[in-house]
Amino acid sequence: MRLVLLGPPGSGKGTQADLLARKFGVPQISTGVLLRSQSADTPLSAAAQRHLAAGTLVPDEIVVGVVAERLARPDTAAGFVLDGFPRTVPQAEALTELLGSAGLDCVLEFTVPPDEIVRRLSGRRECGACRRSYHLEFNPARADGCDDCGSELVQRADDQPATIAERLKVYASETLPLVVYFRAAGLLTTVPANGSVDSVFVQTLAAVRPAPR
Ligand code: AP5
Repeated sequence: MRLVLLGPPGSGKGTQADLLARKFGVPQISTGVLLRSQSADTPLSAAAQRHLAAGTLVPDEIVVGVVAERLARPDTAAGFVLDGFPRTVPQAEALTELLGSAGLDCVLEFTVPPDEIVRRLSGRRECGACRRSYHLEFNPARADGCDDCGSELVQRADDQPATIAERLKVYASETLPLVVYFRAAGLLTTVPANGSVDSVFVQTLAAVRPAPR
């Protein structure tokens, strides 16, 4: 199963990607997670960290390199769930080239109203150690720290209001054109993602269509 999840910040890509990856027994590949876990010890990775902090896109050549390396690992043999990649038309073209004849099964686009996006992102917290994601209202931790490892929960640096606004602007200008791109390729299904995590997952699963092979 080779899936791409598309959607604005806070639309639930990461949450649904995790559920899909468990369901299909394939890895979740989040470019946001991969990029955040890189150290800033080379000029290229330092530049990437500056883009993350500003809420702008990391240059295509850096992200494509990171994804190419990740897709080359053997655990992707049965497929993957790409969460947050591609985000530009050149990235989508690079992915097509990387996958060759295997191609994608489908692309799911999550849509959520802007006020709900702000609510989700401003309430998100993540574990400072294992990065498990929570939400103050919708998915709170049982105790003070992380349910898994007990570490402190922190707010992502790019979940501040000004950076959220910038990320939404960047999504509209750079990533929305992919909706047209993937629709033209016959791969796109739109999933209204405004319900609970469980109800969105039911709709997400219903939208997954394996490509004929
Ligand atoms: P990335 O980490 O991918 O962030 P994003 O796309 O902005 O998406 P988010 O992680 O904020 O949201 P999500 O849609 O995954 O929602 P989530 O499930 O977490 O990218 C960060 C940065 O990295 C970018 O700005 C860029 O700089 C760089 N980058 C990454 N990929 C790149 C690329 N391809 N090219 C260039 N640069 C790239 O949910 C959010 C919250 O809502 C959580 O608290 C969750 O618990 C809650 N929630 C989820 N679903 C529901 C629901 N149904 N109901 C209620 N709450 C819900």
